[in-house]
Amino acid sequence: MDGLIPICDADALSEGGKGIRFPLTAFGGDGTGFIVRFRGTVHGYLNRCAHVPIELDWTEGEFFESSGMYLMCATHGAIYLPDTGRCAGGPCRGGALRKIAVTELEGKIFWQPDEYVRPVRA
Ligand code: FES
Repeated sequence: MDGLIPICDADALSEGGKGIRFPLTAFGGDGTGFIVRFRGTVHGYLNRCAHVPIELDWTEGEFFESSGMYLMCATHGAIYLPDTGRCAGGPCRGGALRKIAVTELEGKIFWQPDEYVRPVRA
């Protein structure tokens, strides 16, 4: 059973603001995950567009588009619902971001590795 891995202090993640990236191993390769806070809740995803497998953020940590209602891939503009990761428009049609389980606990935010999204190799 994998343990929880700390990412940051809970108050470092502001509502609808900049996301926080963290390193991981995804499907056997290096990658990053990110967390955002949306309507009070922390959501975690693999930082990989469902359209072309590249990172979403243009400026590091900028995941929301200007309305604050969607996460957006900076490269070709795919938009995703922040709470489910489902594609809401653009070239990700029918796709979704890969969820990563996250927990807010005693003032800190943690992520939970799973079968395919693993801690970085030592
Ligand atoms: S690579 Fe993300 S929208 Fe195409």
